[in-house]
Amino acid sequence: MVVVITGASAGIGKALAQALNARGAKLVLTARRVERLTELNQSLGGQHLVVATDVAKREDCYRLIEKSYARFGRIDTLVCNAGYGFYLPVHETSPEQMREIFATNVFGSTDCIAGAAPRMLKQEVRDGYRGQVMLVSSFVARRAVPYMGAYSATKAAQLSIAEAMRVELADQGIAVTSVHPIMTATDFGKTAETIGPVKMPRSGGDMLKQSVEHVVARMIAAIERPRQEVWPSRPSRWVASLATFVPRLADWRLGKYLTAIRRQSPSE
Ligand SMILES: NC(=O)c1ccc[n+]([C@@H]2O[C@H](COP(=O)([O-])OP(=O)(O)OC[C@H]3O[C@@H](n4cnc5c(N)ncnc54)[C@H](OP(=O)(O)O)[C@@H]3O)[C@@H](O)[C@H]2O)c1
Repeated sequence: MVVVITGASAGIGKALAQALNARGAKLVLTARRVERLTELNQSLGGQHLVVATDVAKREDCYRLIEKSYARFGRIDTLVCNAGYGFYLPVHETSPEQMREIFATNVFGSTDCIAGAAPRMLKQEVRDGYRGQVMLVSSFVARRAVPYMGAYSATKAAQLSIAEAMRVELADQGIAVTSVHPIMTATDFGKTAETIGPVKMPRSGGDMLKQSVEHVVARMIAAIERPRQEVWPSRPSRWVASLATFVPRLADWRLGKYLTAIRRQSPSE
């Protein structure tokens, strides 16, 4: 199968590429740091396609899809994984920061989908599907957390896109899957802390956390047998559901998390 992975230069995307390579998939590896992608491709045998892509640029997204079809003739799964976050209260997030994070996390996903979906719809059915779109969203799609309001909003937008699309395309053989990891051990936090002054509790305090290998194993299961949503931490799904039913309880619990964040970053 042919899998396009945005944000394959680090973290979840890179680990997914390594695991899919071991299963014999043909891959399109994309991100901005092309030297990292080239190194990754070489470590996997060099047979995959590397495309330098800034998903915040619409023309890059379209070029990525063009190049993927030119090389492999089809895309079985498009994984919209590229993304980042930062830790700032909503009212201290500048309009530019707000637009930039939506440009990468949301429009970076929708522009890749806009390029790929019309072509996927013309593909022959293979193993029950013409293709699959997988959006790497987050736990925070269902319940935003303090200091991550902008990021949470982008992840909620990805979830909404996935929910609508999978019904729209179900009878046309396109599977749509959203993925909702909790805190995962990648460069995500380090990158976020370079954007603002806030330091998150390193361990996540007593928040749930998980390994990148665990997240990737669950994503691969959903690529091999598509499903609607992937919640790599099962308890987190119930926590998110409870938070939507009892927002007062969620606010109280997240207030305690906010205290831990402020203790970690006393200047805030
Ligand atoms: N780690 C977590 O706790 C966690 C939890 C829930 C959801 N997620 C989601 O998982 C996804 C992957 O994050 P991660 O944890 O693996 O973080 P990471 O280790 O920081 O990796 C982020 C990846 O996204 C790429 N990227 C960022 N901006 C990009 C852009 N404009 N164009 C193209 N690629 C871009 C980066 O590549 P370049 O910098 O080379 O472009 C990198 O490959 C994100 O969507 C994130 O929101 C992460």
